[in-house]
Amino acid sequence: MDSQRRLLVAGLAAVPLAGAAGVLGTLVSASAFGQQKKYRFGFSQVTTVEPWRVQFNKDMKAEAGKHPEVDLVIADAGDRTDKQNADMENFIAQKMDAIFISPKESAGLTGVVEKAFKAGIPVFVLDREVNGNDYTQFIGGDNVQIGREAGSFVVKLLGGPGHAQGNLVEVWGGFGAQPAHDRHDGAFSVISKEPGIKLVGERVDCDWKQDKAYEYMKTVLRVNSKIDVVYGHNDPMAYGAYLAAKDAGRDKSIKFVGIDGLPQEGATWVEHGLLAGTFMYPTPGAEGIRQALKLLHGEKIPKKVTLPTQGIFADNAKAYIASH
Ligand code: FRU
Repeated sequence: MDSQRRLLVAGLAAVPLAGAAGVLGTLVSASAFGQQKKYRFGFSQVTTVEPWRVQFNKDMKAEAGKHPEVDLVIADAGDRTDKQNADMENFIAQKMDAIFISPKESAGLTGVVEKAFKAGIPVFVLDREVNGNDYTQFIGGDNVQIGREAGSFVVKLLGGPGHAQGNLVEVWGGFGAQPAHDRHDGAFSVISKEPGIKLVGERVDCDWKQDKAYEYMKTVLRVNSKIDVVYGHNDPMAYGAYLAAKDAGRDKSIKFVGIDGLPQEGATWVEHGLLAGTFMYPTPGAEGIRQALKLLHGEKIPKKVTLPTQGIFADNAKAYIASH
């Protein structure tokens, strides 16, 4: 008799009949004696070249590490929709216990999210939305609200409500991603009430990237002799625009506003006076792990979890960095 069977029989002998099924269940799920059952979680991350994504993976891994029953696999899509679809297909084929996705874009990844969900796998959509309702839960910040707060700050920088005057450049995140549109809509719900603010520059997709924002800003600087504020849809782009202005010798006359507020990035740039302000955009991965475990333990979870934000400015950047 092998050791597993011996243990099983000993267990059965010690427990009255009604408990036998339970003991059997416990022994079967407790693989290799005492090790807990693993939940296999697959996370399809759009990219890891941006610092916010690196932090996102780190936070998610740290949370998964607190739960020995969780086995987390992260696939990096290299910023490509086709690769991200393949990564998702792979997780579906492996019948993961839960799938997480932070998509490159909404349209091109809605189908595969729907496929996973319809296959009965819980699917958690993180940070960027997909279309429709065929997923388990969405977790992310309220980008319209963040945009509104950024818009109010831009108005304040330009003289305050009813008085604001100046030329504004907006640096767009990826057009296919909902946060870019929400950050635009939220900001302009406030900014467009100010007739003294003039939007200059073209609407260009800078895909959240510092180098693309640098190139875009270089062109905008060339054709506009007066720029007062730059609103970037994330900190790397606000910083890229700042670098372009600096290289053109115009950084001192322009104020830069971003979003993300990573302590070692955006918040530090605010502390150093390179950005005038940024807004915290928490990474959603750790909450995703907690929500998935709740669901797998039989709890009801909401369709949407909204993460908080916070403005980071010259007067609180130091304290913010110290506490994060
Ligand atoms: C990283 C990032 C963040 C931004 C988020 C929006 O890829 O660009 O900087 O806040 O994605 O989805």
